Amino acid sequence: MQLEYSVRGAELSDLHKIMVLYKTVAARSGGIARHADEVTEAYVRNFIERCHETGIILTIEDPSNPEALIAEVHTCSPGIRVFSHLFSDLTIAVHPDYQDKGIGSLLFQTLLQEIELKHPEILRIELITKESNQKAIKLYKKFGFRTEGRLEKRISGKTGELEADIPMAWIRQEREPSF
Ligand SMILES: CC(C)(COP(=O)(O)OP(=O)(O)OC[C@H]1O[C@@H](n2cnc3c(N)ncnc32)[C@H](O)[C@@H]1OP(=O)(O)O)[C@@H](O)C(=O)NCCC(=O)NCCS
Repeated sequence: MQLEYSVRGAELSDLHKIMVLYKTVAARSGGIARHADEVTEAYVRNFIERCHETGIILTIEDPSNPEALIAEVHTCSPGIRVFSHLFSDLTIAVHPDYQDKGIGSLLFQTLLQEIELKHPEILRIELITKESNQKAIKLYKKFGFRTEGRLEKRISGKTGELEADIPMAWIRQEREPSF
């Protein structure tokens, strides 16, 4: 049976479900820049509230158990007027049991469509990912993000070794005026 995945906005009432998702991703697949014990209620509450004020936060429920979330993405404004045209700190997490099934792509595509339609003021979206996270880098490139450099020895991996972080950005393309 083909399961239907639908994307919806995340609410503050999703806080504990998002915590479970992030802790599971941190413990099992890694990729997010936190260890499982650093996924605190304060951390998750902070990004939900910030994204409600000045950004966007989307999630996908488990179709066989709506009490659980299987994916989440968020990005928001740095909150400073000189950066009012950009969203930063983009983070995406798909439950390890649901990775490689197109769910990250569905979520990312919806995020970009919403930003293009509902946030015309946003000209740039930025994120940073570990160089070894080739799956994430491929996903971002597929949706138009470009690599903007290489921050050598910036982040420590599972066994403590240091590796490079890769800053990436999406820039809104100017539309040709239609006459
Ligand atoms: C990175 C992540 C969000 C991708 O989501 P996903 O649902 O697994 O990805 P998708 O199935 O939509 O695949 C997206 C693209 O990734 C690439 N990809 C998928 N599986 C891959 C694999 N095993 N190896 C390398 N690239 C892979 C492909 O380019 C794919 O696009 P395509 O199928 O059109 O070619 C997800 O794996 C995840 O949450 N990882 C852990 C947390 C994380 O790393 N977050 C990013 C922090 S910067």
